[in-house]
Amino acid sequence: MVVDDLFLKGEFMPLASGTVSVLDRGFQFGDGAYEVVRFRGERFLWLDEHMERLRRSLAALAMPSADVAARLAAILPELASRSGYPEGSAYLQVTRGAAPRDFALPSEPVLTELAYVRPHTFLSWEEVNAGTTALLQEDMRWARCDVKSVSLLAAVMGKAVAAAAGTAEVIWVGTDGSVREGGSCNIFAVVDGELRTHPTDRHVLDGITRRRVLELAHGAGIAVREDPVTRDELSQADEVFLSSTMRDVLPILRIDDLPVGDGRPGLVTLRIAEMLRAAVTVELAVP
Ligand code: PDD
Repeated sequence: MVVDDLFLKGEFMPLASGTVSVLDRGFQFGDGAYEVVRFRGERFLWLDEHMERLRRSLAALAMPSADVAARLAAILPELASRSGYPEGSAYLQVTRGAAPRDFALPSEPVLTELAYVRPHTFLSWEEVNAGTTALLQEDMRWARCDVKSVSLLAAVMGKAVAAAAGTAEVIWVGTDGSVREGGSCNIFAVVDGELRTHPTDRHVLDGITRRRVLELAHGAGIAVREDPVTRDELSQADEVFLSSTMRDVLPILRIDDLPVGDGRPGLVTLRIAEMLRAAVTVELAVP
């Protein structure tokens, strides 16, 4: 069955019908920004925060973003409804559009704006308990990781190296030994009873799920510190977990070839994962 699950340059269409110029700067230079938003029915999770982050990314890339975020946000419910997908993720992308290949910024860019939805079943509680694995790698990304840029080659290659080692995710570590974030997720560790994560600076994305984790932990009286753990502290951590739109809160049970803690999901992690699931259920419930 063919459904309209893409909105491109002002029109709804099936994803397979969407085409973009070879000269699009997103294609030529990775010159664009994106967002991934979870939805159920016509409700989009924490949409305002995703749109605010998209505006910030576009501003950092000096794109004349006028109302692009608002325009895309406005069509999302119709896109979800036209797709017929009960639940999934929306991918929103804005690039600097097609222009003759030149590093200099075009003076009057016509942005390529698109959004598409994909069906997705989010992790079951059994899958959360099964956890995941990761491989530490030296951070080789650029110094503006706060921008959700479509230039994702470092993440692609980092995840490939992780997969070749039989693990599911890369964890980026700075040359100073500080643990930054994952290939497409934020990273938390429980060290000496305290929940730690990298602060939001240019080395990590200000994850929307990360924000919820911090709020929920504060609310539950869990000691929290936005201060990066070192590689050594990570190897001694009782619990490590990741957070992202697509994977919620997911325990990391092995890093490199070593178990984290006792190799099973920890109590702090499971408590936060449970609170997050409850919050998501409330947000996505039909009013
Ligand atoms: N990735 N850090 C990076 C580098 C990310 O790419 C992501 C999200 C996150 C988590 O952010 P949030 O909680 O807002 O999803 C952190 C998306 C899901 C992706 O690229 O598919």
